[in-house]
Formats: sequence, C-alpha cells, structure tokens
Amino acid sequence: MNLATRALFRASSLATAARRAPIVVSPRFAAIRTYASAQRQAGGGGGGMGSTLMVVAASAGAGAIGYHYYLEGTDPANVKQAAGAAAKGVAAAVSGEKDGKKEPIDYQKVYNHIATLLEDENYDDGSYGPVFLRLAWHASGTWDPAAKNGGSHGGTMRFKSESSDSANAGLGIARERLNRTKDKFPEISYGDLWTLAGVCAIQEMGGPTVKWRSGRVDGMEENAPPEGRLPDATRSDPKHYHDVFKRMGFNDQEIVALMGAHSLGRCHKDRSKFDGPWTDSPTVVTNAFYTELLNRHWVERKWDGPKQYEDKESKSLMMLPSDMAMLQDKEFKKWIEIYAKDEQKFTEDFAKAIAKLFELGCTFKENSKVYEFKATNA
Ligand code: HEM
Repeated sequence: MNLATRALFRASSLATAARRAPIVVSPRFAAIRTYASAQRQAGGGGGGMGSTLMVVAASAGAGAIGYHYYLEGTDPANVKQAAGAAAKGVAAAVSGEKDGKKEPIDYQKVYNHIATLLEDENYDDGSYGPVFLRLAWHASGTWDPAAKNGGSHGGTMRFKSESSDSANAGLGIARERLNRTKDKFPEISYGDLWTLAGVCAIQEMGGPTVKWRSGRVDGMEENAPPEGRLPDATRSDPKHYHDVFKRMGFNDQEIVALMGAHSLGRCHKDRSKFDGPWTDSPTVVTNAFYTELLNRHWVERKWDGPKQYEDKESKSLMMLPSDMAMLQDKEFKKWIEIYAKDEQKFTEDFAKAIAKLFELGCTFKENSKVYEFKATNA
C-alpha cells in the first residue's frame, strides 16, 4: 500500500475514532463484501449452527468431514480418525487427485479463499484478520530449540493440551472459521493453513508481502509444547520479553518489529481479560502502535480488571503492561522511535520478522518454493 492510500486509511480511521468500535474497512474488504455478508452469522463465533447447516448443505456430497468439523467444534483431531476414510475420498475429489497421483495444492487459491473469510461487519471491528494473525503467532511462538518442540510445524494447537492454554483463549474462533478453508483444501496441513492465514491477514489488511513456504506436517498430541512458552502480558519487566523472544532466536530489533502487530485488533475481556484496542485503525497494518505508545499520555486504568493502561485524553485506547515495558528498555525504545518515524522501514522489517516467526522449528524440503502471494485486490 502506498503512503497516500495509507494516509487515507488513517484519516478515515480517525474520523471513526469517537466510536468505541471503529470499523476501518479497506478497499480490499469492500471488494469481498458481498461474499462475506452472504455468509453473515449471528454473533462472532464463526461456527454457529447456522454455518454448520450451510456447510453441510453446501457439501452434501462431501459429507462426513465438513459435517464433523462443524459439529464437533474447534478440535478436528477428536474426529480425525472417524472421518479418516471419508476424508481421503473428499480430499481426492477436492484436490484433484487423478489416478492416485496428487495434484499440487494451489496455495494462491487457498490464500484467496482465506481472504473471503476475513470480513464480517458483525465481528469485532469488521475483520477476522487480527485473530487469524494472533492464531498464526501463537501457533509459531512456542518454538523451543532446546526441547525441539513447539512452533507451527505440527499444527498441535488442534489438541486440547495446547488449545486450552489460557494464552490461547479465543483462538478457537479463528481455527473454527479456517476449517472452512480446510474443508475446501483438505490436503493442507494445519500448520500451513494457520500460518498462511497469518500472511493473508497481514497482506489483506494493507500490510507488506510476507514470504511463505509450505511443508508443515500435522503432528500428534505428544508433539504439543507445554504451557507457558508464550509471553505473559501482565509482566512489566522487559527482561521477560527479551528472554521469551531470545529463546526463539529474535534480536531486539526483530522483537520490536513484531510488536507492531499490536496496531491491529483488540483485547477481549472474555479471552485475555484485558479490554480495548491499541489504535484507532485496528484493521489496517500501520506503525500506529509505536506512535500511540510514544505520543499519548498513558495512565493506569481504574477498573475491575487486570492492570492495563488507557490514554488519558480519550480513554478509548489501551496498552498492556507488556507494551509499556518495552519503553523501559533503551534498545527496545530506540527501535520504537525508529519505527514511529519510518513506516516504510517498519513494514519491511515486520515482513521479514513475521516470515522468520512462522518458520520457527519447521523443516522444508531443499529448494522448496518461496511463495509471494498476490493480495486479492492488489
Ligand atoms: C510481548 C509479547 C506479546 C504479548 C504479551 C501479547 C499479548 C496479547 C494480548 C493479551 C492480546 C489480547 C488477546 C485478546 O483478548 O483477544 C493480544 C492480542 C493480539 N496480539 Fe499480541 N502479544 C504479544 C506479541 C504479539 C506478536 C509478536 C504478535 C504478532 C506478530 C501479536 C499479535 C496480536 C494481535 C493481532 C492481537 C489482536 C487479536 C484480536 O484482535 O483478536 N502479539 N496480544
């Protein structure tokens, strides 16, 4: 997205700032509005009975697997075995298997399908993009090279031991919605699906092109990481964040670049117990996380919830203790200032750090293709 367009997004977001839940819909979303509204659901669950019936009806012939996914909720692993035989047949039909030979998956088509799932004006600020990105990050950010487990490779968040980690509260909404893409492209692994959804979310929300490779293979529950690998937002000591991200192999600059993702989305009381958005443009990739962090006057919010900060003037934006902690560290602060001044530099570094994050702990075939997807409205 060029700077002029970005400025337009910003202006339209500011115009909506007075409302509690500003909806900033990019032209890309506008282009897919008809499709998304046609599938509108009640509430934000992404997997209500309405959608169940729709999927069942739409895939009457494809039957078992789609049906089970939507009735059984977020953990298709529970029904994987039972649906196994049916799934193979469906997979062959959908992926174009001919004479026992598999056609390669067309990942641009998968990307395009995920893009159709993003917009829903009844959900949060109008987009599932932020929660898709959070799913991809939480699936990836558990990697521990010493223990040699975690990371997106095995798609292990579909198992209860990982999905029930309190850090992952609410991510079932994203997994369940993405099962629509899984039903259409059953051969894709969950790790590939979720990371590709992260890439798609960033690009469709006006962010940079993020390089991506396929090849993650579904693992078993014993491959799932233990709880406690993800950063704890209540900590106000920067060392905690250094330690968690250093374990994954990120330096200070990359950590700060990744944190720019908090220009997107919001906190939900029923998920993390925190509440509110970081910026006035929660569905557009911008450097606003850094500018807001530096330029607003942040005070502790007086409320019946965990310690968090609100901006003194409008009280409409928030920061987590973890976000504020970044300001206390000299090196972190240096990069916050650089990205606040230079949005172009931020988006370039963000794209690189995200690509690295999504590949943590993954093994790819030698010379495997590096994809650069075309945004649906580019
Ligand atoms: C110090 C590290 C981090 C901490 C402590 C942290 C913590 C949190 C918390 C508590 C929420 C609110 C969840 C909810 O209530 O729905 C959240 C949301 C979010 N986080 Fe982070 N986060 C961190 C780093 C990251 C990184 C590295 C990314 C991506 C690269 C990211 C992307 C997001 C997004 C997109 C949301 C919004 C989700 C939504 O709107 O549903 N975060 N984060």
